[in-house]
Amino acid sequence: MEYVTLGRTGLNVSVAGLGCGGFSRLGLGTGKSEAEAVSLVRQAVDLGVNLLDTAAMYGTEAVVGEAIKSVPRDKVVIATKAWIPRREGREAADRAVRSLDNSLRQLGTDYIDIFQLHGVSPKAYDQAIEIIAPALLKEKAKGKLRHLGVTETGSSDAEHAMVQRAVEDGVWDVAMVAFHMMHQNARTNVFPRTIANRVGTLLMFAVRNIFSRPERLTVALRELTASRQLPRWLADAPNPLGFLIHEGGARTITEAAYRFVRHEPGVDVVLFGTGDPDHLRTNIASLLAPPLPLSDRQTLTKLFGHLVGVGLDPPYSMPGSTST
Ligand SMILES: NC(=O)c1ccc[n+]([C@@H]2O[C@H](COP(=O)([O-])OP(=O)(O)OC[C@H]3O[C@@H](n4cnc5c(N)ncnc54)[C@H](OP(=O)(O)O)[C@@H]3O)[C@@H](O)[C@H]2O)c1
Repeated sequence: MEYVTLGRTGLNVSVAGLGCGGFSRLGLGTGKSEAEAVSLVRQAVDLGVNLLDTAAMYGTEAVVGEAIKSVPRDKVVIATKAWIPRREGREAADRAVRSLDNSLRQLGTDYIDIFQLHGVSPKAYDQAIEIIAPALLKEKAKGKLRHLGVTETGSSDAEHAMVQRAVEDGVWDVAMVAFHMMHQNARTNVFPRTIANRVGTLLMFAVRNIFSRPERLTVALRELTASRQLPRWLADAPNPLGFLIHEGGARTITEAAYRFVRHEPGVDVVLFGTGDPDHLRTNIASLLAPPLPLSDRQTLTKLFGHLVGVGLDPPYSMPGSTST
């Protein structure tokens, strides 16, 4: 495993972070048992993954807690999240603190390394910074959390408007950002400012459905060519991203997707979600592989650099939000 410093948190974190949500939810989302999910987390930790990203909403905090029972607490970096509805007024602060206390119980720990507000939309940001953050900073002073973080909604904030504000406010030490081969605008909209302000970044959506299910890529390409955002040949090609697969390049599209995001300047940790032990191993290997060849990266930027908001579909919706 390789490790990096997560911005101004100073935390030493693995470049590959286990995402405990998404479509897989450690396998719970695809019919696997809690015991299998616990085993998957342990295998990840054994392979050197020390950053585990869960959330109250995922229903995987207890699994993570069980898996890390036997691991010295300072050997893992636990990131979890609270989702707070918009327009809650003062109640939003109490809700966030209750969610924090519940996460501590579920995870069986005394402190959360990175406590994040989950899927904050641009419209919800005022509530987050003015009402929720001050309450959580009081809990931080009590030692219940080490760092505050914020995650964007993805599909409903494809331009990263919320994170663009948050990275300037000095409150959020970590930001979770969407970036992938067909949604590259964080390169200009976000990363220069996270680097300047030393905000640590957790990368989400590297693969999602669009690069793990060929039929989803086909549909996306059909829609993008129909709306003239991409040239027609991409929709007609039997293997449109086949140019990425070659000697010296990637072996699979999934591998290409992880390698593409991993080496982007400004990306600290790439979260990957899986419930499959084989995928766990291959994804870590992909994230530790060299950057894609320059010509492939240039082709990806030339073909897809202008696209915004492709492939960010959430696995489930939250009331009043599209975050996950
Ligand atoms: N707003 C937010 O806060 C937010 C939103 C989205 C995600 N997140 C975080 O980011 C994490 C990562 O997102 P994600 O879970 O969507 O992860 P992802 O790594 O982008 O995509 C995971 C999907 O790809 C499949 N997959 C993974 N490795 C594969 C491989 N080698 N070959 C084929 N298919 C593969 C997985 O299925 P298998 O189970 O079959 O491997 C799963 O369906 C989440 O778990 C969560 O922690 C946060």
